[in-house]
Amino acid sequence: MSDENIVWHQHAVDKALRGEQKRQKPCVLWFTGLSGSGKSTVAGALERVLYEAGQHTYLLDGDNVRHGLCGDLGFDDAARQENIRRVGEVAKLMADAGLIVLSAFISPFTQEREQVRAMLNEGEFIEVHIATSLAACEERDPKGLYKKARAGEIKHFTGIDSEYQAPKNPEIVIQTEEQTLEQSVEQLVNYLREQGYIS
Ligand code: ADX
Repeated sequence: MSDENIVWHQHAVDKALRGEQKRQKPCVLWFTGLSGSGKSTVAGALERVLYEAGQHTYLLDGDNVRHGLCGDLGFDDAARQENIRRVGEVAKLMADAGLIVLSAFISPFTQEREQVRAMLNEGEFIEVHIATSLAACEERDPKGLYKKARAGEIKHFTGIDSEYQAPKNPEIVIQTEEQTLEQSVEQLVNYLREQGYIS
């Protein structure tokens, strides 16, 4: 709860200065898509390329964050909403620190994604839809979770018995069934260059 007696303190070093020092425009690349769609893979490969280019980044990954910060949360709708709220706040702090933040969460609900967008300034939230079809994700099934969900061993599984609301107007759509990982990374780097996040 925010408190009316707690006043925001404006410090002398701000996001713009931190970004300038790092020669980049801080932002949050918000990867959304089904489990197994390739969010972590694409985000990880992009982070490697940005790192090689001397950019300052941090990757927030659902499977990792759920071991710590969100270790107390499950997968019903309310828990997913709280997961995204917390991660959104962390992403905002990291962008404030001057970083290019990559976040890879299913983030199935439009409302929570829009809530994170609203927490950031215009142009700082870049929604990236990893638009791999359910059929392809299920075919890949890298963690064997679709098989378990179909067998009824996992409840509330996204795409099976829990909804995934695809973004209507994402800044970027990645078609992993039609292009290679390298092409996806190139698509993202080009966007960041063209929009002036990196030079
Ligand atoms: S989110 O919906 O709250 O954004 P998040 O990205 O943090 O999800 O976690 C998704 C990961 O948790 C999946 O990639 C999968 O490995 C694992 N997982 C375990 N149970 C479920 C479930 N019921 N639905 C979706 N993913 C699950």
